Amino acid sequence: MATVLEKSVEMQGARSMGHMALHYKNKEEGPLAARLLTMLGYELTQDLLLPNGAHFYRFVVDPKHSPRGDGIVYLSLIPDAQRDLMDAIHKALDVGTDHEHAAVVAMREKMDQDPEYSFHYGTLLESLEDLEAIFLALEDANQNDPELKGRLRLVYNRALPGNPDVDARLDASPIYGGVTRYAYGKNGVQAFLETDLLSSGILGETMMLEFDYVFPGYDRHVLSIVEWE
Ligand SMILES: [Fe+2]
Repeated sequence: MATVLEKSVEMQGARSMGHMALHYKNKEEGPLAARLLTMLGYELTQDLLLPNGAHFYRFVVDPKHSPRGDGIVYLSLIPDAQRDLMDAIHKALDVGTDHEHAAVVAMREKMDQDPEYSFHYGTLLESLEDLEAIFLALEDANQNDPELKGRLRLVYNRALPGNPDVDARLDASPIYGGVTRYAYGKNGVQAFLETDLLSSGILGETMMLEFDYVFPGYDRHVLSIVEWE
């Protein structure tokens, strides 16, 4: 039976997702992390050099958010106490050794199978061509960019099959043509970027960023109805 939840406050205005706060892991890699976010289509609106020599960046996912309080991605250096906690966790669980704690090994296996297994956030693009161009550039950077080579893991999910128009467009796609993974829904696609430039999650080793596109004209799509099977 579906759960029914009632609002405790009678809302008078609209709401939206406000901001995400991302952390890069190494002080000297701030500019590189900022360059990566720019490659994702985000627009840099502020680059503040802090007294400790680390950059604090404000990005917006679309220029329309520039003067607003939503659609923002902040990017800053991981705070010292958080880094120290991560280091302590790594030591305690033998992370990165050949005898990692069994729970770490199990989590890695799950993350390898499903990029949405743990914390992540998604950015919606309104052009599939934009998504394809961004990820073709990331694929190239992961092979050839002197600073980014080998630091990007890219995973793609096609729309569940069954819509001939969508299936034909994806078959012809330079990104999705050969993909055999599927999203939990129809009429939309997902692209994932995992990078060790950024820290998130329980072990703080990487961050997973999702990019989505929904084919127009369908009420039932991957981001409106989750389909399990
Ligand atoms: Fe997701």
